[in-house]
Amino acid sequence: MIEPCIIQLPKFLDARGNLSFVEQLNHIPFEIKRTYWIYDVPGGESRGGHAYRKNHEFIVALSGAFDVVIDDGNEKKAFTLNRSYYGLYVPKGLWREMENFSTNSLALILSSTDYDANDYIRDYDVFLKMKKDGQI
Ligand code: TYD
Repeated sequence: MIEPCIIQLPKFLDARGNLSFVEQLNHIPFEIKRTYWIYDVPGGESRGGHAYRKNHEFIVALSGAFDVVIDDGNEKKAFTLNRSYYGLYVPKGLWREMENFSTNSLALILSSTDYDANDYIRDYDVFLKMKKDGQI
């Protein structure tokens, strides 16, 4: 299984303001098909408890902070994202939840597939069973 990991992005520090960027198949290991962002989340709120069958993603805290909890069916790992010059690569087939959003945080998500509701596994017990049976 491919492991989720923090990926550092290029960072140009400048007195006029800093700049970072991300390139598909260079900094992140997939082609970007879709980008979305999560904003105006009430402080302390949670989102995104689900797994994907096919979709890979890269999550960046463009502003503020939140935790991404990754669960492979056996163990959970929490990653705190709170800087815009790194992000979390989340391979397919993992349960992921976004938690503890700070007020005014902004989460950017780069995705490897077009939106497809059928790619989502939203029931945790179904996820566990699929993991156990080697279906994802
Ligand atoms: P949803 O996946 O439920 O959010 P969460 O990640 O918190 O579980 O997405 C909310 C709604 O937005 C849902 O009706 C589907 C829609 N949506 C799209 O149409 N396209 C997208 O790329 C995404 C991510 C969501």
